[in-house]
Amino acid sequence: MNTVPFEPKPYHWSGPPPGEAMSAPPRFYTDPAIFEAEKTHIHLKTWFFAGRVDEIPAAGDYKSIETVGGPVLLVRDEKGVPRAFANVCRHRSSTLLDGCGHARSILCPYHAWSYRLDGALMGAPGMNDAPNFEKSKFGLTPIRLEVWDGAIFLNYDTAAPDLRSYLGNMPDLLGSHRMGDMVKVWDIQIEIGANWKLVLENAMETYHTGMVHSETIGAQRSISFPTQGEWHCIQVLSDRSIAVLGDTEAFPMIEGLSEQAGKGAFFTVIEPTTQFAFAQDCMWWLAVRPLAVDRSLLSIGGAFPRHFLDLPDFERRAAPYFSRWEAVAKEDVGILEKQQAGLSSALARPGPLCWRDDKVLALNQWIRSRLPSDILDEVIA
Ligand code: FES
Ligand SMILES: [Fe+2]
Repeated sequence: MNTVPFEPKPYHWSGPPPGEAMSAPPRFYTDPAIFEAEKTHIHLKTWFFAGRVDEIPAAGDYKSIETVGGPVLLVRDEKGVPRAFANVCRHRSSTLLDGCGHARSILCPYHAWSYRLDGALMGAPGMNDAPNFEKSKFGLTPIRLEVWDGAIFLNYDTAAPDLRSYLGNMPDLLGSHRMGDMVKVWDIQIEIGANWKLVLENAMETYHTGMVHSETIGAQRSISFPTQGEWHCIQVLSDRSIAVLGDTEAFPMIEGLSEQAGKGAFFTVIEPTTQFAFAQDCMWWLAVRPLAVDRSLLSIGGAFPRHFLDLPDFERRAAPYFSRWEAVAKEDVGILEKQQAGLSSALARPGPLCWRDDKVLALNQWIRSRLPSDILDEVIA
């Protein structure tokens, strides 16, 4: 039974009507002052996707990631609890662990301070005789972590609303995909010479697909969903999974999908930097890490229902998904770098948005509503 209380629309326009609505001014994507303001007022206050619990399945498993707030360590502690810490030593701030792996404790490579998996400082050579030194005060700095159906989200702001309230009705629409039963099977990282907002805007419109992706996914048709919470949603209509190209054999549909979920792939943006996409047989993500006003790190990953991995020919059947995700992403990167170059022109100006840019406008408005008006007035007026 479909209990999803969503009413899809051809497009969902809020603000100036099509024909009057314009793209954001070029400086929105090129001015370092905007980038700094976004960091302070948006990125350090909102939830962002950091990885999946199945990437650190056992006590002692860890994964280090880069975030807009600096290096972070995801660790499964001795009790099996996923935790996040600044990947920064409390002595003199060396980073601690690189990449991913397994460790019984966290050892600093500089002066050998060591930490338990729950972050407590365990050993600090030479500090025993230091008067007033209290080991208990120098554990690793924790970062707020919450999990939604296997997806780990972090937030630098201890006062921010919890993840569930932030996501609003997103779990209702996507619950039938049972993301909690999925396992990450693939990921890649791509550095992009473009502003982070362009990456997400591009990921939420199908206007460009017939042109940019003519050799891969081709033209697509999408509908939009009004949402409640800090996220946006479109659905690309297709009666078969679009996570694999052409007539390549797809995995079976996930059992128990809602009627709406069976109609195509949902593309979502959880503000500000996370895209989750859900086809009828899998999900994948784009996690965008803003590096500079004109540089971003894109982490792409894909997950399948756990029982698909037991299929004897899983590897063979999954490989075309990985090549499709990578090929399409690289096509997008190519056009985004052209767009960033164009936006940097002294002659670039805002342009009129097409009705198929409805979510571009929605994403622009979300960011602008969270930046201080003095900065917007100065940079964007
Ligand atoms: S910086 Fe880590 S022990 Fe000195
Ligand atoms: Fe694209």
